[in-house]
Amino acid sequence: MSRLLKVYRNRNYVWPDDVRPPARTLELRPITRENVGQVEGLRNASVAATFRRFLDSRRFGVFAVVEGAVVGHAWVTAPADRPQVVNTYAKLTAGESLIHYCYVAPEQRGRGLYAQMLHETTAWAREQGATRVTVDTSADNTASQKGIQRAGFTEVAPTTSVVVGRRLAYIKRGELPT
Ligand SMILES: CC(C)(COP(=O)(O)OP(=O)(O)OC[C@H]1O[C@@H](n2cnc3c(N)ncnc32)[C@H](O)[C@@H]1OP(=O)(O)O)[C@@H](O)C(=O)NCCC(=O)NCCS
Repeated sequence: MSRLLKVYRNRNYVWPDDVRPPARTLELRPITRENVGQVEGLRNASVAATFRRFLDSRRFGVFAVVEGAVVGHAWVTAPADRPQVVNTYAKLTAGESLIHYCYVAPEQRGRGLYAQMLHETTAWAREQGATRVTVDTSADNTASQKGIQRAGFTEVAPTTSVVVGRRLAYIKRGELPT
């Protein structure tokens, strides 16, 4: 049963409309079919397979690179022209992009690499015409929440999603945490 039914309690954040994402100061490398295998050193082959699926669905990803080594990654969905469900649990409005699947190597955490990847993926989504760029994280992921807020995103209502199999069965917006 637990494999069939999954509950996602997420906090959600949007990039402010009138702000241009800051330029990067770190090496960020777009993820391509040629370099996608580089994630295996940081994560594993199964993550690389997931990334290949992302590339097939018009998503944009970046690697963070420090001293030549891949030490982080982040992805964003292309804005769609109609409402869509992505990653089984997230319901996006027309024109909305979702930043997801972010990771920084444990030894590189706390240096703001996350913010740079969030800015780069936001800038890409905007260039593709996104009218809203959202990033979400689970309600218990304090490190991610702090990083997202420090990067300049604004918190919006949290969501609870219930996924049965691979189908979004229910989604509810809650009140902003005080
Ligand atoms: C969430 C994550 C991407 C943040 O990356 P980061 O580059 O370390 O982000 P930041 O430098 O902005 O730090 C964010 C917070 O992480 C925490 N942090 C700092 N150093 C840390 C370390 N060495 N180890 C773990 N967490 C640390 C701090 O709470 C920090 O916020 P604060 O400085 O205001 O207290 C990273 O912790 C990670 O990969 N976690 C595992 C995967 C994950 O949760 N991904 C996000 C899913 S949405």
